[in-house]
Amino acid sequence: MKEFKGTVAVVTGGASGIGLAMAQRFALEGVRLVLADIEQEALDAAVKGLQAEGHEAIGVVTDVSDLASVQALKERTLEAYGKVNILCNNAGVQVAGPSWQISIGQWQWILGVNLWGAIHGIHVFVPQMLEQGDACHIVNTSSMSGLVSVPMMSAYQVTKHGVVTLSESLSQELAQQKASIGVSVLCPYFVQSKLHEAERNRPQHLQDASNMGGQLEQAIKHSVKQLVTGGIPAADVGEQVLEAIRDDQLYILTHPEIVPVFGKRAERIVEAAQATEAKRAAKGA
Ligand SMILES: NC(=O)c1ccc[n+]([C@@H]2O[C@H](COP(=O)([O-])OP(=O)(O)OC[C@H]3O[C@@H](n4cnc5c(N)ncnc54)[C@H](O)[C@@H]3O)[C@@H](O)[C@H]2O)c1
Repeated sequence: MKEFKGTVAVVTGGASGIGLAMAQRFALEGVRLVLADIEQEALDAAVKGLQAEGHEAIGVVTDVSDLASVQALKERTLEAYGKVNILCNNAGVQVAGPSWQISIGQWQWILGVNLWGAIHGIHVFVPQMLEQGDACHIVNTSSMSGLVSVPMMSAYQVTKHGVVTLSESLSQELAQQKASIGVSVLCPYFVQSKLHEAERNRPQHLQDASNMGGQLEQAIKHSVKQLVTGGIPAADVGEQVLEAIRDDQLYILTHPEIVPVFGKRAERIVEAAQATEAKRAAKGA
């Protein structure tokens, strides 16, 4: 997308952190905004803030883990603006801990928001964009956790690896169709936001206690908070996302210095393949 003025962006998780920063940056280009979020109060405040600065914005309370809610978001968007050009599947939550100690409620919650949320967004909005036929772009928020695997982060990583592969496939499928829809996958390391307080949005029916034990849980919470609050400002990410849409760039890597960790994973896989080949050769000899 090269022209932004008068286009329409839907940003999920738009009431806070990275989502709000993307919306604020788009607004400066004259993009009309639909902020979608599960938190009514924060959403109202975010929309009011944008409107007070003279931008066009509406808020739609949405639960991205619920298909009907995302369908209603599309209807409301079309009602207000008649089209959608940018979709940011950004709403996300985090849980941490040893894989076997994360509760089933936590697993269902994080898969529902982080992975099903992006799936729902694509399922509902891509047909609309194809029908419009004008320039569009989808930004899926993954994480560096979508490219690497570290201890204590399996639930989050499962969802974020899913978002990376979903984005990579989608990008190729749309290119094959010669659709005018670009795709980016945002893979940040730590960014200042309220992600460490994600638990505030876990719904009642998925409230079960993990079997981690208080001390471990507190230690994990403390370190996630330190990392998130010590991250880069969300506004920097908003700027990079706008540039990536303009440049039709697939991967948005906010912390290139971390990327070599990803290279190490690839190296270990290549080494494993080489070891298998060496064993094969030894058997054949
Ligand atoms: N902050 C970081 O360090 C970091 C790093 C990598 C990736 N991310 C990703 O960035 C995205 C945005 O998170 P953030 O860091 O800005 O955190 P945040 O908590 O500030 O914002 C997330 C927003 O999503 C909303 N939300 C939660 N559940 C929802 C649901 N079911 N439906 C709709 N909205 C829902 C929250 O109300 C909140 O406004 C997430 O996908 C997160 O995983 C964040």
